[in-house]
Amino acid sequence: MRLARLLFQVSLLLCSHVPAVAAAEKPYSIWMTDSLITRGVPATRWYTEATFYRGVEAVANLTTNPSYNSFLTTSLDSLLLANGTFRAWDYQDHQLDNIRVGSTLLYLYTLTQSPKYAVAASFLHNQLVVQQKRTASGGFWHKDPKYPNQMWLDGLFMAAPFYAAHTALFQPANTTAWDDILQQFALIEQHCKDPRTNMLRHGYDESLRAPWADRSAGSATVGASPHVWIRAQGWYLMALVDVLEWFPRGHAGYQVLVGWFRELAAAVAREQDPASGGWWLVMDQPYPGQKGNYVESSGTAMYTYGLLKGVRRGLFVEGEVAGYAAVAKKAYGLMVERFVARNGTGGTLNWEGTVRVGSLDGNGDYKYYTTVPVVENSLIGVGPFILASAEMEMYNAKT
Ligand SMILES: *[C@@H]1O[C@H](CO)[C@@H](O)[C@H](O)[C@H]1NC(C)=O
Ligand SMILES: *[C@@H]1O[C@H](CO)[C@@H](O)[C@H](O)[C@H]1NC(C)=O
Ligand SMILES: *[C@@H]1O[C@H](CO)[C@@H](O)[C@H](O)[C@H]1NC(C)=O
Ligand SMILES: *[C@@H]1O[C@H](CO)[C@@H](O)[C@H](O)[C@H]1NC(C)=O
Repeated sequence: MRLARLLFQVSLLLCSHVPAVAAAEKPYSIWMTDSLITRGVPATRWYTEATFYRGVEAVANLTTNPSYNSFLTTSLDSLLLANGTFRAWDYQDHQLDNIRVGSTLLYLYTLTQSPKYAVAASFLHNQLVVQQKRTASGGFWHKDPKYPNQMWLDGLFMAAPFYAAHTALFQPANTTAWDDILQQFALIEQHCKDPRTNMLRHGYDESLRAPWADRSAGSATVGASPHVWIRAQGWYLMALVDVLEWFPRGHAGYQVLVGWFRELAAAVAREQDPASGGWWLVMDQPYPGQKGNYVESSGTAMYTYGLLKGVRRGLFVEGEVAGYAAVAKKAYGLMVERFVARNGTGGTLNWEGTVRVGSLDGNGDYKYYTTVPVVENSLIGVGPFILASAEMEMYNAKT
C-alpha cells in the first residue's frame, strides 16, 4: 500500500518533468479538433474552413473513430447537390482560395468512391486549369480580376496539392500537368527567393505594376514584394511537402522539388527564434525582435508540420534528421505552452496568437503586416496546429 503510494508520487514527480506534450490528457491533434467541432465549424468551401478540414483528414487517419470522416462528409455534402454540383458558385470569381477545398473532396472520393466528390473535384480542376488566368510564364494569377499577373506563395497551398492529387488520381501519365505543377513552384523560386537567405518574399507581380513590386535593375527578386511574411512561406512549405506526396518519382521534377523543400527547410531552421522556438511574423532582417513584430502561431505551426512531415517522408538525408526533429520539437513545445489555451467552454482548447490576414492588397510594408490584428481560434492556425500535432504524435510513437 505504502509502496504503491510512493510509486504513485514518484511517477507524479517524474511526470511533472516531462514536457507538457506528453502530459496532455488526450493527444492534442484530437483534443484541438474536438474542441473546434464541439463549438461549431461552419460548412463552407472557403480556404479557412478547408484548412481546418485538412487537419481533420489527418486526425481521421490517426484514429479508428468514424466521427471525423462523418464530420467531413456532412460538411462537404451540405455544399453539394446530389450529383456533385456546387449549390452556390460565383462564376465571375476566379481565385485560388476557391480551390483549396478540392483536396478534401479528393480525400472523400478516395474514402467513399462516391462519384459526386469526383464530379465536384473535376469542376474545381476545370476552374483552375481552364478558367484561371495565367501570367505570361504560365503562373496562375492569385485572383482575377483583383490581382492580375500576381503570384502569392499562399496560392501554392490553395491549388498545387489539389492539382497534384487530381492528376495522380485521374491522369497520372499526363506529363504536361506535372510540368505545369512544377512550373508554379519554379516561378516562385525564380522571383521570390532572396539568395542571401534562401527565404521567399510574399509574392511577385510579373507585370511589375503593383506598388510593392521590386523594379530595381539587376535585382535577384525582380517583381517581388518587400518582405518575408511567416504565413505565406508557411503555406509554401506545406504545399511543397504535400505535393511531394503525389508527384511521380520518375519525373525529373521530383528531385527538383525535394531540393527546394530542403533549401527552404534549412532557411526556416536557421531563422528559428532561439529564445522562444517560434518564428517572427516578419522574418527578414533586421525585423525579428523589432518593435511591433512578434512570434506568430499559424506560421510556427506550418513550419513544424512541414519539417516533421519531411522527416517522416524521408526528404532529409540521414545526418540532418535529428537536427530538424529538434527544431520541430522546440517549436511544438512553444505552441503547447503559449498558443494552446485550456480555457474553452466545457474543457475545450482555444488557439491563440494567429494573425488574422496578410495580403498584398496595399504596399506590403512592415507597418502593414505588424498592425493586422491577432485573433483567437483562427482556423488558418488551428488546421496547421492539428497537422503538426498529428505529425508529432506519429513521430513520438516511432521513437
Ligand atoms: C495517414 O497515416 C499514414 C501513416 O499511418 C501516413 O503515411 C499518411 O501520410 C497519413 N495521411 C494523412 C492524410 O495524414
Ligand atoms: C445536377 O442537378 C441539378 C439539380 O437537379 C441540375 O440543375 C444540374 O443540371 C445537374 N448537373 C449535372 C451535371 O447533371
Ligand atoms: C493534361 O494536363 C493539361 C494541363 O493540366 C491539360 O490541359 C490537358 O487537358 C490534360 N490532358 C488530358 C489528356 O487530360
Ligand atoms: C484564453 O486565454 C488566453 C491566454 O492564454 C487569452 O488570451 C484568451 O483571451 C482566453 N480566451 C478565453 C475565451 O477566455
